[in-house]
Amino acid sequence: MATTLCGKDILRADQFTLDEIELIMDTAARFEGVMRAGGRLLNMAGKVLATLFYEPSTRTRLSFETAMLQLGGQVISVAEAKTSSSAAKGETLFDTGKMIEGYAHVTVIRHPVVGSAAELAAGAGVPVINGGDGAGQHPTQALLDLYTIRKEKGRVEGLTVALAGDLKNGRTAHSLSALLATQGVRFYFVAPDALAMPAEITAGLRARGVEIVETSDLAEAAAQSDVLYMTRIQRERFADPAEYEQLKGAYVVDMALVKSARPGITVMHPLPRVDEIATEVDAYAGAAYFRQAANGVPVRMALMALVTGQE
Ligand code: NCD
Repeated sequence: MATTLCGKDILRADQFTLDEIELIMDTAARFEGVMRAGGRLLNMAGKVLATLFYEPSTRTRLSFETAMLQLGGQVISVAEAKTSSSAAKGETLFDTGKMIEGYAHVTVIRHPVVGSAAELAAGAGVPVINGGDGAGQHPTQALLDLYTIRKEKGRVEGLTVALAGDLKNGRTAHSLSALLATQGVRFYFVAPDALAMPAEITAGLRARGVEIVETSDLAEAAAQSDVLYMTRIQRERFADPAEYEQLKGAYVVDMALVKSARPGITVMHPLPRVDEIATEVDAYAGAAYFRQAANGVPVRMALMALVTGQE
């Protein structure tokens, strides 16, 4: 039966109804269960995913490709789209979209410019999934982050979640705050002043009644939070390298910080980490970031199956 997600583009984390979020979580859990039991899924047999990555990626591209293969489908990709695709010859994303629909049933794009996934989607007659558009949005990361919190904590409602690091430029924080705002959490937004969450995002969430504490004090936020979501200072978004040098290393989560935090705190990170989480934290039971990365596979399986009506 076709769901409301069938045929849709996935462009922003605030586009989903509560029912759609539940459907994605449930479908991901079902697929994960089948895989864990050693079963084979063929939902996407005969279907092709195109991946267009105009910016570096490890997890997002590999997990989308793994997800498609795990569903029995196939993958075509342009790895360094910026230099090796016709974008280098001046082709617009709209035209690339027109062309993609002749080759693939669903496509994922990552691009340095905000709004680029929407531009591709305007041309493409097949569902387009935003795998990160500049400092804009990263909706599939937010969905796998939510899936991870549900698995790690067993619930989401009533939790206190601290988002920390480069909240200005970090698209994962933008998308995750929008998604979690629908789930009854309260937030700490932890950033140096220069990297604070954009005021329009904070104001929009507060207008919806979401409780937010803004601070630059990581230890204080960690002491009050159930989940600590660290992010990387987004070097590639700085116009002035000197400013990056000044702000890098602003926050480091080490075992001393974990010990002073709320007992049982779950530590998450979309990865890649630079130096925001000391490697000594990896052995801590609540360090969830590698499990989080693995959760990208079932969540992206669910998304691709749902937008193509193959769930
Ligand atoms: C993130 C991204 O690309 O926005 N990575 C990811 O997809 N897991 C986070 C980052 O690059 O800092």
